[in-house]
Amino acid sequence: MARTISIANQKGGVGKTTTAVNLSAALASKGLRILLIDFDPQGNATGALGLEKNAVAKTVYDVIINGLDARAAIQKTAFKVEIIPANVDLAGAEVELAPMTQREFKLSAALEPLHDDFDFILIDCPPSLGLLTLNALNASDSIIIPIQCEFYALEGVTQLLHTIELVKSNFNPLLAIDGVLMTMYDARTRLGQQVIAEVKKNFGYLVYETYIPRSVRLSEAPSFGMPGVAYDKRSRGAQNYLALADEIIDSNRRS
Ligand SMILES: Nc1ncnc2c1ncn2[C@@H]1O[C@H](COP(=O)(O)OP(=O)(O)OP(=O)(O)O)[C@@H](O)[C@H]1O
Ligand SMILES: [Mg+2]
Repeated sequence: MARTISIANQKGGVGKTTTAVNLSAALASKGLRILLIDFDPQGNATGALGLEKNAVAKTVYDVIINGLDARAAIQKTAFKVEIIPANVDLAGAEVELAPMTQREFKLSAALEPLHDDFDFILIDCPPSLGLLTLNALNASDSIIIPIQCEFYALEGVTQLLHTIELVKSNFNPLLAIDGVLMTMYDARTRLGQQVIAEVKKNFGYLVYETYIPRSVRLSEAPSFGMPGVAYDKRSRGAQNYLALADEIIDSNRRS
């Protein structure tokens, strides 16, 4: 039975896609069967795994809007990860979903038949709390919340937690916070340490022990169509995503 995890935070540019792509590749490199769902019309995860987002024949849009069998939309990548890609087609999906019955459950229904084929299904959410993110949270066992180590780190987190509570009380009572991931951490600044202290005050043990450092290698990898963990496995950023994968595998074993 796959464990399904959404990587979500409606705040833009906090490291959701970088985490989705590198954690997927890190877990796959440890021999686990990984499916990544690109659930953002920007299609950044699709590109970061080496696919040309404007050339993919089938996308997650076809799955949730046109009822395409999810299996038919899965693409292999060069990094052991399999992906259901996305592109700008998905931008219209929120409006098209709105009048549909079971509109909050399109993704969870589509993924249901795949649960025996994968160990983890990761969902890269868009930077909003609309119907796409609701679909992702309803399809998930848990959520990873990336938080960027910057001055306004916790801005918007209240709305995100509110949305999680709404999803739990209305749709998916077992949805859990898998963990809070500190991203773009710079150990040389006091700000980084202050932000971590502040986030720990709010989330306590939910903060992963692994922090993701600010890393040029991680940020340049997508331009080569590669996850950072494949582009430069020895870089600090890559090593920390591999450590995060271990942390998540361990916690999954315990739960
Ligand atoms: N650890 C890191 N070190 C350096 N740069 C990073 C790191 N993580 C992410 N970035 C860069 O920061 C930018 C935003 O990251 P990313 O696309 O992963 O965020 P996001 O939350 O998915 O954004 P969006 O909300 O637009 O989907 C990108 O240019 C990415 O390369
Ligand atoms: Mg993104």
